[in-house]
Order: sequence, then structure tokens, then C-alpha cells
Amino acid sequence: ELRRIPHPPYRIPLLGDLLGASRRTPVQDSLKYAEQLGPIFRRKVFGREFVFVGGAGLAADMADETRFAKHVGLGIANLRPVVGDALFTAYNHEPNWQLAHDVLAPGFSREAMAAYHPMMLDVAERLTGHWDRELTAGRAVDVPGDMTKLTLETIARTGFGHDFGSFERARPHPFVTAMVGTLTYAQRLNTVPHPALLRDATRRNEADIAHLHDTVGELVQARRSGGGGDGDLLDRMLDTAHPETGERLSAENVRRQVITFLVAGHETTSGALSFALHYLSLDPRIAARARDEVDRVWGDTAVPGYDQVARLRYVRKVLDEALRLWPTAPAFAREAREDTVLGGEHPMRRGAWALVLISMLHRDREVWGPDAERFDPDRFDAAAVRARAPHTFKPFGTGARACIGRQFALHEATLVLGLLLRRYELRPDPAYRLRVTERLTLMPEGLRLYLDRRHPAP
Ligand code: HEM
Repeated sequence: ELRRIPHPPYRIPLLGDLLGASRRTPVQDSLKYAEQLGPIFRRKVFGREFVFVGGAGLAADMADETRFAKHVGLGIANLRPVVGDALFTAYNHEPNWQLAHDVLAPGFSREAMAAYHPMMLDVAERLTGHWDRELTAGRAVDVPGDMTKLTLETIARTGFGHDFGSFERARPHPFVTAMVGTLTYAQRLNTVPHPALLRDATRRNEADIAHLHDTVGELVQARRSGGGGDGDLLDRMLDTAHPETGERLSAENVRRQVITFLVAGHETTSGALSFALHYLSLDPRIAARARDEVDRVWGDTAVPGYDQVARLRYVRKVLDEALRLWPTAPAFAREAREDTVLGGEHPMRRGAWALVLISMLHRDREVWGPDAERFDPDRFDAAAVRARAPHTFKPFGTGARACIGRQFALHEATLVLGLLLRRYELRPDPAYRLRVTERLTLMPEGLRLYLDRRHPAP
């Protein structure tokens, strides 16, 4: 029942609404349409119609797990050739979802996080080592590039005992290049009428997928012959039988899960850290408040402990606010479990689906006020959070298929922001204007910052 849902004017056959819109920035284009068309709208792209939802009321209705579930479509479905029925891309009915979820959930418990903490610190020290050298040389630091190195090394180390050596390389590790390649390709597939138009890109994509599988195959092989790690995610995948059924993950499924975690576990966290650093560099008052908190909570402990990270409440709000304005996984899709009526107004057949555009939800003025576009961490004060309607802040998705790595990402990012604030003053490049690139995830393109070592250096 699409008739009641508004769409952009000037529909052109075949090209749909693409004309005049950049195919490289579908999320930001949709934000512009949302401004004109309201809380729900549809866009036609090459004869296919997509419904976007961003109004808080409708998004909350779609969070109702009794009537809606995750929909594996679009960019996510395009990743099926890469990772098949691993956690992120599994269809709801595939048995490997529940199996992998139950086997891996303990890998994200509080105890598991506390065990990852020292490894996260280790990787963060490689970042500050690199930044110290850049500072001494008087160079600006490449924020998204370095955050991506950091988060990739963190998930590789904590998850799989692996070291990609990112900080020692002048160019990204080939695994990263292949990974970015498959993500970009998956997004581009949505914007052409037929994959045949991407012939060269398709060939490159196949090579990228082969590279990902080979790299991970070697990693798993090394673990099998090396006799186990220290109880990390890979050990769980290889050794843990399901507590009730006794089932185990197959070798192929383990490879798919490892790629999934390497991908899902770092791009989005890297973006979140980068946006947070961008806003911290632009607002010295917010940076000073966050830095005061770090000094107060950490004192002169050389190395912050696990609990000292959880106590950085204001730093965490900075991160939440960055994820509000730029949710780095910008959308998730929901489908109707049975025939239903969305928001009491839009009839949906069983299986019909819509995209929840998180960045739109996070800027709904009815929820966030007339200054919704302004960066303000105080929106996450406990009282303000309590006063807001539920399901209005969804950077990690919703329901059974919400992000399994949420606590991991938040602990890692809060720890790193704390360490960077304690060590450096951040100076923006006055010429920089925020430009956001999209490759399924969002990233502040070309963000560079100048650093000063704090004096007296703590
Ligand atoms: C799922 C966001 C970090 C692993 C999701 C979903 C979102 C999301 C929105 C739901 C997608 C959907 O409904 O289709 C984020 C953001 C992160 C982050 C914004 C960082 C700031 C991580 C990390 C890991 C991870 C660090 C692993 C260590 C996963 C996995 C799923 C998932 C495996 C699929 C869960 C399932 O379907 O059972 N994430 N994520 N994510 N995320 Fe994250």
C-alpha cells in the first residue's frame, strides 16, 4: 500500500529519483529528501521502490519485535556472497544464526570485555606511539586512517590473536583494501540497473572475496595447528559446542564469522571515533570538560583499569552524541512478520519491508528539539535520556538482531578517547569542512588534526 507514501517529484522512468542525486552518497541524499517529504517516504531507483522511515513514532513502531523483524536486503544481501549465513547477514530462519549467537554471546560478556581490556590498551599504545612521532615531525594526523588501523588491530588481536601490522605499514594492509572493496561494491550494486554494468568491478570484487577467504583460512589454520589462543572469539568458534544441542560451527561458517567480525568489528567503531574527534576538535569547551573528567577519574594512574573506563561518563556522552549525528551504520531494514499496519496508517503485507534511516531518526526535531543538528553531549544526561521516548536512539539497531559488539565498541572507543584527551590537545585544520563518505558505513573523509602534547604531560 504505497499510494499514501510521498515520493520526490519528477520521477523519470528507469533512472527513478537518482537524477540530480549523487549515487555515492545515498544516505545524505535521503536526509535531504526527508527534509522535504517527512517521516516516511519512498524513492525509486532503477524501477525498484524503497521505503524510508525516519520519524520517531514510526521507527518505534517498527521496533516492535512481535510484528517486525530484521530484513536482510539491499547492501546486506549484497554481502551474502562474502559472508553467507554468518551472524550479520543470516536470514532469520537460518539455523546458523541462533547457533552462532549462542556460542558467541559469552565472548561479549563483562568478563570477556575485562579480559580484552589489556589488549585494547596495547593496541592504543601503538596509536599514541605513531601520533607522538607525527607530532614531533610537525605533521597533521590522518584521523580516519589511523582510527581504522586501531580498530582493525583491536578486533584482530582480541578476537583472533592476529596482528595485521597496520601501524608499521605505509599503505593499508591488503586485507583492508579488499574489505573496503567489497563494501563499496555491495553499495554500488544497489545503484545500477544490472550488475553487468559493473563488469570490471565485479571481477575485482571476486578477487577481493578470494583474498578475504584466503587470509582468514590461513589465520584459522594457524590457530588449529598452533594449539589454541587465550579463550578469544576464535577459540570459542572452534571449541564451543552449543550448550543445549551440542552442535558446533562448521569450518566454512567459522571463516564467514571471522570475516564478519573483522569487518563489522572495526569500520563502524573507526567512524564513531573519527566523528567524535572531529567534534572535540571544534569545541574547546566540550574537549576541556571531557579532559577534566579523564584527569579526575584516572588521576595519575599510568594505565587505566577496566572500571576506570566505564566511569568516563561525559566522554561516553561525546561518543553517543557523535553516533547520534552520524550513526556510522546508517540504516537497518525491518520486515513485517504478518500483515500489519505501520503507525496505524500504512498497511504492510507479510514480508514487506522498509529501511529505518537512523541518521534521520536521530535528527527528528520532535524528539531532539529545534537545534537537533547541533552537537551537544548533554542530550545524554541521565534525566534527558529518561525523559525521551524509547527507541529514539538506535545506532546499534534493534531487537534480537541488534549489534552483538555494542559493549565492545563502546569500551574500546571510550578508552581510546580517554587516552587521546589525556595526552594531546587537538587542533582542527581551519580549512577542513566536514565531508562524509559512504561505503555502507559513514566516515569523515580527509579529516586531519594537529596535535600538541599537553603540558605538563600527565
Ligand atoms: C549488528 C552497528 C560495532 C558486530 C549491528 C547492527 C547495527 C550495528 C546497526 C544491526 C544491523 C541490522 O539490523 O541489520 C554498530 C556500530 C558499531 C558496531 C554503530 C560501532 C560504533 C560492532 C563491533 C562488533 C560488531 C565492535 C564486533 C566485535 C556486529 C555483529 C552484528 C552487528 C556480529 C550482527 C548481529 C546479529 O544479527 O546477530 N551493528 N556495530 N559491531 N554488529 Fe555491530
